[in-house]
Amino acid sequence: MQFEVLATCHTTKARVSRMKLAHGVTMLPTFMPVATQAAIKGLTAQQVEALGVTLILNNTYHLNLRPGIQVLKDVGGAHKFQGWNHNLLTDSGGFQLVSLSKFTKITEEGALFASPFTGEPTMLTPEESISIQHAIGADIIMQLDDVVSSLTTGPRVAEAMARSVRWLDRCIEFHANAGRKDVQNLFAIVQGGLDPVLRDECLDEMIKRRDGVAGYAIGGLSGGEAKDTFWRIVKQCADKLPFDRPRYVMGVGFAEDLLVCAALGVDMADCVFPTRTARFGVALTFNGPLNLKLSKHATELGPIDDRCPCPTCRDGVSRAMLHHIVTLETVAAHAVTQHNITFQARVMGGARDAILQGTFPTYLRTFFANYFGEDG
Ligand code: GUN
Ligand code: ZN
Repeated sequence: MQFEVLATCHTTKARVSRMKLAHGVTMLPTFMPVATQAAIKGLTAQQVEALGVTLILNNTYHLNLRPGIQVLKDVGGAHKFQGWNHNLLTDSGGFQLVSLSKFTKITEEGALFASPFTGEPTMLTPEESISIQHAIGADIIMQLDDVVSSLTTGPRVAEAMARSVRWLDRCIEFHANAGRKDVQNLFAIVQGGLDPVLRDECLDEMIKRRDGVAGYAIGGLSGGEAKDTFWRIVKQCADKLPFDRPRYVMGVGFAEDLLVCAALGVDMADCVFPTRTARFGVALTFNGPLNLKLSKHATELGPIDDRCPCPTCRDGVSRAMLHHIVTLETVAAHAVTQHNITFQARVMGGARDAILQGTFPTYLRTFFANYFGEDG
């Protein structure tokens, strides 16, 4: 990977960077739409490409179950499989340890899942996760981490943090021995819950291993913790992580959080929120989210946002029509998904432009005034 910081904001820690991976350049800070099953729900890869997106996320856990590693190997990787010629990041499966935790037992060796299809026990080790991610062929791959909910307290948080460091060592070693370090970039994931002491220890340990990793993620957040706690942990991590490596906060997707994280020096984020909320009929706008199910839209012939360059708004699909079909026809989900992905890209693109022009603080003030303003 080539990673170069092009500009920094004078009053915040925000920066604009250029990240060159095997499938092209992605400008940071950026938001990554989530294609859990190798597709952004409701869109083809070509439609996603047409929105100008250059980096999406797939999930190792899901692709390993279906279509399975053999299919991915046979077709030559997940890029070819899904017809996506731009950058791709795979999450390691670590997060599924939390979200599917009823079916998981964690040991030092790895995570023992019950297969959702057969009930058969399957062990996901750090080496196995990296090996699957090699078969998938993503440009950025994530270490297997031991994730606990951000609301967990007690000794389990320290255990998960220390285990994530030990699992990072195993991921680094396996990845280095596979000889794929030039094409696929391994990221470490900082854990430690909401405890600044544990976070600091994890940061120290993972920064020591910087020669083995291309970038760093901040994990274990966005699980229902208080906002100010979340911001403090992100700030602590971003302040300490190496300046010359990309920083990725996992599971963050509200525009206001993306901008605060960018101001704290974060470069990348992902979340299912914008695409999921689209399927529930919520369109994101600079004046706040718009619930298209509300009857006030029933006779509105204007688009979601008349300044939006997305195909839905540009083609003049009306709020009235979207209101009418939102629960009736799947095309409404496609239309709003395209709009919401475009919205996220505009928020981040606007941030990059402002950082480059030295006007990021004004950009933030304007965004927050409009987003939380009266006429939302
Ligand atoms: N997605 C959201 N949070 C996390 C995390 O802490 N670890 C992993 N692997 N994925 C995540
Ligand atoms: Zn639009």
